[in-house]
Amino acid sequence: MKQTMIKGTGRYVPPRVVTNHDLTQWMDTSDEWIRQRTGIEERRWVSAEGGIGPSDLGLQASKIALNRAEWTHEDVDLIIFATLSPDIYFPGSGCLLQHKLGLDSTPALDIRQQCTGFIYGLTLADAFIRSGHANRILLVGAEVQSTAIDLSTRGRDIAVLFGDGAGAACLEGVETAEAAGVLASALHAQGEFANILMMELPSHKLNPIITEEMVRAGRHYPFMDGRTVFKTAVRKLAQVTKEVLKKANLTVEDIDFFIPHQANLRINQAFAKLLNLPEEKVINNIQRYGNTTAASIPIALDEAIERQCIQSKSTVLFLALGAGLTWGAVVYRFL
Ligand code: UT7
Repeated sequence: MKQTMIKGTGRYVPPRVVTNHDLTQWMDTSDEWIRQRTGIEERRWVSAEGGIGPSDLGLQASKIALNRAEWTHEDVDLIIFATLSPDIYFPGSGCLLQHKLGLDSTPALDIRQQCTGFIYGLTLADAFIRSGHANRILLVGAEVQSTAIDLSTRGRDIAVLFGDGAGAACLEGVETAEAAGVLASALHAQGEFANILMMELPSHKLNPIITEEMVRAGRHYPFMDGRTVFKTAVRKLAQVTKEVLKKANLTVEDIDFFIPHQANLRINQAFAKLLNLPEEKVINNIQRYGNTTAASIPIALDEAIERQCIQSKSTVLFLALGAGLTWGAVVYRFL
């Protein structure tokens, strides 16, 4: 039977390190507040001069993933690009990446599931592979968020959280009799709560889609009701974990590593406590990167593979909740 296998991963973060202390030059915040409430110590941002988009970060991560998978770019028969911060309004960053990879007419698909982008993307890739529509898929999660956050005290609840970065995975349909690859997936969305985490502008509902007055009011920056998102995340992440484990016919003990989206270290700790998970089974790297939205899971995965904590036969559970609201989980076993 054909299973969707991860053949190679890669990550790229821009070299500019922005510490919590650095943020105090723009807004009323402190290293202590940020560490205590979020666990974040530093994040990577693209150069303040601009000119670098998620497709550029995604290109670097993709090159590493392709190399590790021993594919050439021409082996790719579909690109899935997950981002909430596209290079330009349209076309999608997947098309831009396709061209930057030197590809001629390989299809490219952007998905807009924010922090849950990798979970939706992996599930989508699995469906494409199982249905025979594609066999070698490049899944990329990449974000440049630093250019679209309010650096004044007004925006500090959001500004201290987000980072830039990219992660990529080469996914291939492989014939195997083993119970390996994507074992189960659970996806959810609840548009009723779209307004608790959103970026409103530019908006086609408005005419014109953006005005100076709207910009002065900060409506072109992300808005978040942090407390509600926090509480919802802990609850839903625990629920969806149970759901996907049931689908895979596995228990919490069967999972070697949980790789959650990196939104807040306290969310992941509360989730782990709720399910009674040993700390060492939950992979966190938010301390160094902040919240890189669609890139956070593939970056954490790539690091875990590199550190060799993930090995042959490891069973991993990916999970995330983010804007939409969207949330979901995937159970994956390495060959
Ligand atoms: O990627 C998925 C989506 N995002 C998330 O999952 C994030 C979920 N939410 C969170 O991580 C947390 O809610 C935050 C880190 C955003 C905020 O932490 P909190 O413990 O919920 O703080 P709060 O919003 O209740 O604010 C507490 C205080 C407020 O001051 P007052 O009203 O008590 O005087 C805020 O104005 O902290 C203040 N505050 C800050 N102070 C220093 C908010 N942001 C900052 C800041 N520095 N950066």
